[in-house]
Amino acid sequence: MSAQSKEHRERRLVVAITGASGSIYGLEFLKRAARLWDRIWLTTSSNALAVASHEVGLKGFDPARDLDLGDLAQRVTLMSPRDLTAPPSSGSYRYDGMVIVPCSMGTLGRIANGISSDLISRIADVCLKERRRLVLVTRETPLSAIHLRNMLMLAEAGATILPAAPGFYHRPRSVGDLVDFIVARILQSLGVDQDVLPGWREDE
Ligand SMILES: Cc1cc2nc3c(=O)[nH]c(=O)nc-3n(C[C@H](O)[C@H](O)[C@H](O)COP(=O)(O)O)c2cc1C
Repeated sequence: MSAQSKEHRERRLVVAITGASGSIYGLEFLKRAARLWDRIWLTTSSNALAVASHEVGLKGFDPARDLDLGDLAQRVTLMSPRDLTAPPSSGSYRYDGMVIVPCSMGTLGRIANGISSDLISRIADVCLKERRRLVLVTRETPLSAIHLRNMLMLAEAGATILPAAPGFYHRPRSVGDLVDFIVARILQSLGVDQDVLPGWREDE
């Protein structure tokens, strides 16, 4: 088998973390995703690191140190948000899609308006044009008419808008339970059989 066809069998996903509140959603999603995809292409905006430093005490970001994944951390490849030559920024490079978690209103606005000025908005643009899955885990409240219009534009273009708004019907007892709710819904949006949380009345 050629190196190229072997590569094409590899399951790949792009994950981006932006400067919305909720860095913990991104980190917990990464821990699950690294078990399910062979390769995770990860990028973080500079604002994401500032918020993550405040919220969860991250100092820079190092998958091997910060994700508690052991050898699986090797599956995570970090891309600079300024490196527009990174493989996923071309539609000719194969991957399943992209999750932006959490997604700020700034990043949402850039994607909705086709402003591919950084790696995150460029890869999202590629996902939309190539009809690949694009999941935006938005976090802001309340929402302005601009935010809502941008979300509608993106939903019409094929993206999934998945607000970081956990339900309470599974009776969460901890922040971790609330985070798991969102991680489970992201995995379901990607068509993955997830075992983070059972579905409503799944066992009946
Ligand atoms: C502590 C903190 C929390 C923030 N929370 C949010 C948020 O929940 N949603 C949002 O859209 N922006 C939020 N922001 C503002 C974004 O970080 C800011 O708009 C930034 O320019 C987004 O850039 P990015 O999309 O490139 O990461 C927050 C900023 C800080 C410092």
